[in-house]
Amino acid sequence: MQKIVIRGGCKLDGEVEVSGAKNAALPLLIASILARGEHEIGNVPDLVDVATTCKLLEGLGAEVERSRSRVRISTRALSRHEAPYDLVKTMRASVLCLGPLVARYGRARVSLPGGCAIGARPVDQHLMGLEKLGARVSLAHGYVEARARQLRGATIVFDLPTVTGTENLLMASVLAKGETVLENAAREPEVLQLAEALCAMGARIEGAGTKTLRIQGVDELGPLDCSVIPDRIEAGTLMIAAAIGKGRVCIRGAVLGHLTALVGKLREAGVEIAERDGGVWVRSPQRLRAVDVATQPHPGFPTDMQAQFMALMCLADGTSVIAERIFENRFMHALGLRRMGAQIKQDGGRAIVRGVDKLSGAPVMATDLRASASLVLAGLVAEGTTEVHRVYHLDRGYQRLDAKLRSLGADIHRSRARPPVTVR
Ligand code: EPZ
Repeated sequence: MQKIVIRGGCKLDGEVEVSGAKNAALPLLIASILARGEHEIGNVPDLVDVATTCKLLEGLGAEVERSRSRVRISTRALSRHEAPYDLVKTMRASVLCLGPLVARYGRARVSLPGGCAIGARPVDQHLMGLEKLGARVSLAHGYVEARARQLRGATIVFDLPTVTGTENLLMASVLAKGETVLENAAREPEVLQLAEALCAMGARIEGAGTKTLRIQGVDELGPLDCSVIPDRIEAGTLMIAAAIGKGRVCIRGAVLGHLTALVGKLREAGVEIAERDGGVWVRSPQRLRAVDVATQPHPGFPTDMQAQFMALMCLADGTSVIAERIFENRFMHALGLRRMGAQIKQDGGRAIVRGVDKLSGAPVMATDLRASASLVLAGLVAEGTTEVHRVYHLDRGYQRLDAKLRSLGADIHRSRARPPVTVR
C-alpha cells in the first residue's frame, strides 16, 4: 500500500495541464461495444478505472491497445456478454455495458454493482429504462441479466437525473427500433460528449445537453473516433489547490463553461479566477470568506467537488453550510479534516464548517476518490506533515495528482506505507 506524504506551507506557483475526463472516458470506451470495427479514442487519462474498463472490454472479446493517451479498440471479435463480479466490484461504472450489450447482441449479464463509501448507488433507473425498451430483466446470484431480440423505442422518465443511467439508456436506445424519449435526463458535459460521439458514429440524437433527449433508432453504427474532453473535476480540484496554496497558478485545458457553479462560489469566497492566454489563472488573497453550497445535478454545484470545497472552507473566515443533496454518505472526508483540526459539525445531509486559523498535519485515511483529494488539499496548507493513507482511491480518478502538485512547488511525494500492525 502506498501513502502520500505532504509537508504543508509551500506556496503553489506555475502552470499545470488538465488530463482527459475520467467520467467521459469510461462511457466512450464502453460505447465501442455498439459497433463492429476499429475504434480510436484520444486524450484518455492514465487511471486505474480506465485500465479496469479496458480489461472489461477485453473480457468481452475486444482487442484493446493503449499507447500514451490514445486507446485503440477492435470489436470485430467481441463475442462474450458478461461483466464479471471481480471487475464490477472495483468499478461501479461497469454497469454501463448493460445497455450497449443488449442493444447490439440482445443479451447481457452484469454483476450488480454494490454500494460504495458514498452511498448505496442503486441502478433501478437503469433497469426500469431497459424494461421500458422491451428487455426482459432478471436478477439472480448478484447478477442482472437482460435479454431482448430487438429493443423498441419508448418514453422513459427518470425519477431523478442519473448520469450513468442516462448514458446507459442513451446507448441502448440508439439501436432500438423507433423513437425513444429520455425525460429528466442528466445534462453533465460528459453526457453531452457521449451523445456527440454517438452521433458521429451515425446515431440520431436531438436535445443533447438538455434534460430531454429524443433518439431515432438506426440499424447499425460506425466506429468511434473522438478525443476525451478535459476533466472538469480535476480542473476544479487544481483551482482549489491554487486557492489553498495562496500562489498564482495557470491551469491549462480547464473549460470554465463546465464549472460555472463552482467558479461562482470560488469567486464569492474571494478567489480570483480569470481566463487569459488559453489558460485559467487562479490566485487568492490571504483569507477567504466562508460561503454556503448545496450540491445539485449539472449545471448546479457538482457533488464531485464537495469534498475539495470543504477543505477550502475549513480555513475561511466565518461559517460555511455545505449541503450534500446527491449522495447519502459523502462526508467521510470530514473525519480526516477534523483530525487535522477542522471544526466541522454534521447535521444529516449538511456539514457546518467553522473556519479556523490553521490546520495541523496528521496521518489520515482516504475513504473514497474525492475524499482523498480533499485530504491532500488540506495537507498542502496544514502545519507540519500530513500522511494520506490508501491512496489507491486517489489513483482511480486522478492522473498523478501528487506529481502535478509537486510541479507547482508543493512538498509532496509517495512512499510505501508500513502494513497495519495487527494487535493479537
Ligand atoms: C456519476 O455516478 C459519476 N460517475 C459520479 O462520479 C458522480 O458523483 C455522479 O454521477 C453524480 O454526478 C461516473 O460518471 C462514472 P448518478 P452515477 O446515477 O451515475 C441515485 C466520481 O467521483 N440513483 O447520477 O452512479 C443515486 O443514488 C464519481 O468521479 C438512483 O437512485 O451517479 C444518487 O443519489 C463518484 N437510482 C443520484 O441518483 C439509479 O438507478 C445520482 O446518481 C441511479 C442513481
